[in-house]
Amino acid sequence: MKKKLFIKTYGCQMNVYDSARMADVLAPHGYAPVDAPDDADMVILNTCHIREKAAEKVYSELGRIRLIRERRAALGRKTVIAVAGCVAQAEGEEMRARAPFVDLVLGPQTYHRLPEMVARAARAGGVVATDFPVEAKFDELPEASAPQGPSAFLTVQEGCDKFCTFCVVPYTRGAEFSRPAAQVLAEARKLAAQGSAEITLLGQNVNAYRGAGPDGESWGLARLVRALAEIPGLARLRYTTSHPRDMDAALIAAHGEVPALMPFLHLPVQSGSDRILAAMNRGHRAADYLALVERLRRARPDLALSSDFIVGFPGETEADFEATLALVRAVDFAQAFSFKYSPRPGTPAALAEDRVPEEIKTARLHRLQAELWEQQRRFNESKVGTVMPVLLEKPGRHAGQLVGRSPWLQPVHLDAPARAMGRIVEARIGAATINSLAGRALVMEVAAA
Ligand code: 5AD
Ligand code: SF4
Repeated sequence: MKKKLFIKTYGCQMNVYDSARMADVLAPHGYAPVDAPDDADMVILNTCHIREKAAEKVYSELGRIRLIRERRAALGRKTVIAVAGCVAQAEGEEMRARAPFVDLVLGPQTYHRLPEMVARAARAGGVVATDFPVEAKFDELPEASAPQGPSAFLTVQEGCDKFCTFCVVPYTRGAEFSRPAAQVLAEARKLAAQGSAEITLLGQNVNAYRGAGPDGESWGLARLVRALAEIPGLARLRYTTSHPRDMDAALIAAHGEVPALMPFLHLPVQSGSDRILAAMNRGHRAADYLALVERLRRARPDLALSSDFIVGFPGETEADFEATLALVRAVDFAQAFSFKYSPRPGTPAALAEDRVPEEIKTARLHRLQAELWEQQRRFNESKVGTVMPVLLEKPGRHAGQLVGRSPWLQPVHLDAPARAMGRIVEARIGAATINSLAGRALVMEVAAA
């Protein structure tokens, strides 16, 4: 009989990708995914450490899973409990000490060893694996088995060497590592053959990609993108998340020359104040970011930008915050995420004493978000009346409706038959809200398959 596997995924797309790989690696061992933990033979929490109190939230979720395990044990059933991802990496042995009923604690670089660890835990009790053999992970994980649908994710790079002073990623995901280009191309061909028209390349620092090329040279992301764009069926390419420092001339040029590369770029800046950027160890100034945006827009005039911001970083004055607002106005973003700074144990900024009071952080966040939301609303409204290609990805809320994505990653609601799913259709946009667009498909050339 099949064993039931429940995976709960927190945080970034990288974790979504990893969760799918964990399901793949367990499938040959008889595990089939289910949607709820209540009767699962194995529960994996794939955790994220980027937000505040991440570990505490995992412990309270584990409390709930423990009750399920006890209920099942009363019926003579066993439940394997595993914690994966960045909280597992950060907590390590500590997690088994605080939650001894957890069978497996596994860091992001160890997933290929899951079946062996499950067996070992069954024999000998808990296993903690938080080492960093990232190369082995990609060599030994099976290729994606289930089709990912019209839009797929593909991890090409992991880890980070940048050490921004607020961030845990260099500690939880380890040093930068890039998968060999041939491995990425093979996986992309398979995704395309399974019907994915769009691939988003993932990496914590994806534009720092430096993978071994099939020609023996080291390939940057631009070269990889150009090779991927040759794959039949792959109409759309995206990549995330990028660092301004790694945005090289070749990649900027690719934005102008590779039509498959979509005109939307998530390029976190974090702050508009040079003093704060230096304290964050970002390695760039506000003016560098603005100059970069200008070069990108020269290469691809319709490029839309998205960013991440942190307000209330230690030492941030009103003038520093005003500089962030000024940068936001200068760039005009299509979309953005903003966060109040919160200290992460083990990071340099967590030791700073000139903390910004919570109420000031909250007030600044509101002011920043008001500006960003206004920009997002204006960006969406600028598309009303235009015609654009929409990749139809999933059913809409009502029958006869599908939801897709614009080239700029906006969700677009269209009246379209279910058989158009996975297709790119031309649509005229009739309305915009702050979060999405709605329109009408112009020609519905859907082959009767
Ligand atoms: N406090 C607030 N926001 C943070 N981020 C990362 N670390 C912190 C922190 N300690 C934000 C950054 C990053 C995004 C993924 O999360 O803006 O780009
Ligand atoms: Fe974290 Fe900075 Fe690396 Fe991004 S570049 S993952 S914010 S350390």
